Amino acid sequence: MKILVTGGAGFIGSNFIQYWLDNNPNDEILNFDLLTYAGHLESLKKVENNPRYSFVKGDITDAVAVDNVVSKVDAIIHFAAESHVDRSILDPLIFTKTNIFGTQILLEAAKKYAIKKFHHVSTDEVFGALPLNSDTKFSEQTCYDPHSPYAASKASSDHIVRAYHDTFQIPVTITNCSNNFGPFQDPEKFLPRMISNLLTGQKVKVYGDGKYVRDWLHVFDHCRAIEMVFKNAISGSTYCVGGMSEDVNNLEVAQKVIKILGKDEKDSIEFVTDRPGHDRRYAVDWTKINKDLGWKPEHDFDTWLEKTVIWYKENEDWWKSIKEQSESIYK
Ligand SMILES: NC(=O)c1ccc[n+]([C@@H]2O[C@H](COP(=O)([O-])OP(=O)(O)OC[C@H]3O[C@@H](n4cnc5c(N)ncnc54)[C@H](O)[C@@H]3O)[C@@H](O)[C@H]2O)c1
Repeated sequence: MKILVTGGAGFIGSNFIQYWLDNNPNDEILNFDLLTYAGHLESLKKVENNPRYSFVKGDITDAVAVDNVVSKVDAIIHFAAESHVDRSILDPLIFTKTNIFGTQILLEAAKKYAIKKFHHVSTDEVFGALPLNSDTKFSEQTCYDPHSPYAASKASSDHIVRAYHDTFQIPVTITNCSNNFGPFQDPEKFLPRMISNLLTGQKVKVYGDGKYVRDWLHVFDHCRAIEMVFKNAISGSTYCVGGMSEDVNNLEVAQKVIKILGKDEKDSIEFVTDRPGHDRRYAVDWTKINKDLGWKPEHDFDTWLEKTVIWYKENEDWWKSIKEQSESIYK
């Protein structure tokens, strides 16, 4: 099978391409990515000479370019997006264009070329926020209630994907996953920003009181969940994917990273002005994907957080050159 991966130069997409080529020796991948500030071909060094891998630079909102690549593949796994909540507050329009319109352009091409499968990679942020100190979780039954322009654009894209399934019988699946962590995540994001700040002698910036809870999942577990849904789920189905069994708030995550790096906590944390519309708590119930497909997270948070911190320590070449640019949005 030949699969079009959109956004394959980003954090999850690049991990996914490596994962897929390693585990599916008969498949080919065509990576279609605009190489925005978030796209890094350096993340794909291990696969760049693989004969089953190819790359085309292009924009998912460009119907001609999309037609050209979709006409050459059997299936689509769609990661490409503007993905950073803070940027969606500073410059929301590009989120609407890329995440909503771009997804629809891809679906149009999927319809035109009778694509066999279209998997849409989405987020738990479409569900809004849960109260702190509760045991409620997001599930496939939770109503959409997005708060940031990023979450709203992803929610809209999910609706459009479902509409193309119901109206045009496009064979779609969707995953709504929680916060990922692991190698090759841009240093603008919470965890790599924190690690790279500490590694360059700066403080960790913690929004508000730090009591914001995220459900963390290692990116390798997310890749495996996407593979299982893509291969085995019925058309039109949605799966929630998450990793945590206990709540850990952002301040506690910061404390763990500071400890791993052997830094002094009181000199390492700076509380900064909160993000507007900041969701308090995310937690994901992954019962359905476990029951239907046998998926469960295999990378526990503490062990793999440490491995992630070590990865950033050992791969400064990858993030140092992009750190300055990614930090500029916070000034
Ligand atoms: N990172 C997370 O924790 C997380 C969790 C759940 C779901 N997701 C979803 O997973 C997907 C990937 O997230 P990520 O963290 O890897 O994002 P990322 O920002 O690291 O990567 C996005 C990629 O998309 C590319 N891109 C952006 N606009 C494009 C366009 N118009 N045309 C073609 N390519 C374009 C970028 O160049 C980049 O390579 C997104 O759809 C996101 O909503 C992310």
